Amino acid sequence: MEPLPLPAPARRPALGERALFGDLEARSYLNHAAVSPVSAPVRAAALQALDDVARHGVGTVLRWVEQRERLRVRLGRLLGVAPETLGYVANTSTGVLTVAHGLPWRPGAQVLCFEGEFPTNVLPWVRAAEQHGLEVLRLPLDGFGDGSGSGLERVQAALRGGRVQLVAVSAVQFQTGLAMPLGALADLAHAHGAELFVDGIQAVGRHPSTSRPWAWTT
Ligand SMILES: Cc1ncc(COP(=O)(O)O)c(C=O)c1O
Repeated sequence: MEPLPLPAPARRPALGERALFGDLEARSYLNHAAVSPVSAPVRAAALQALDDVARHGVGTVLRWVEQRERLRVRLGRLLGVAPETLGYVANTSTGVLTVAHGLPWRPGAQVLCFEGEFPTNVLPWVRAAEQHGLEVLRLPLDGFGDGSGSGLERVQAALRGGRVQLVAVSAVQFQTGLAMPLGALADLAHAHGAELFVDGIQAVGRHPSTSRPWAWTT
């Protein structure tokens, strides 16, 4: 089916420009990765999709399936990964839950998380631990981002125990903006037979370290 022409701004807006947010009443808005105001092109595209379904019902499904595949290619380009390695989920929490309950867990394995993490990057691991007989370890965030290296040393000590199957972390901490050393965490985890799960919502497409392909990213 023919794609519908997507609404697009005439020119690329500058960072902080309000032109695409004509109805926004607040004087300022700081992105916090939860609920954001909707820009004019996003609003128009969502309405276009709804109108299309209102007119054609199920007859329009193929068009939007094809549209999802085009989007997958563009997202692959943005993230620097092969499009076929990307899967869609409804939101970040669903992505974490899907991995937490879908991984082939080893009996008695440990999941390593951090204190102060966004709750949806902790609770699914706690629940999976109850259901699959795992143990959740929670390390403090002290010693990250201060040049001491002690945060990574603590991670390494936990990994040396040999039972950690997954290290789960947010790329950027939601309370403080602390950018986690994803490359070093991935190297450490992989060197000890564990995988790294990254909740990238605060960073994907913006923070350069997320362009490296992770084992599990949402
Ligand atoms: C680190 C982190 N993960 C997840 C979310 C939100 O998850 P969801 O996409 O399920 O609303 C936020 C929102 O603030 C967040 O900061």
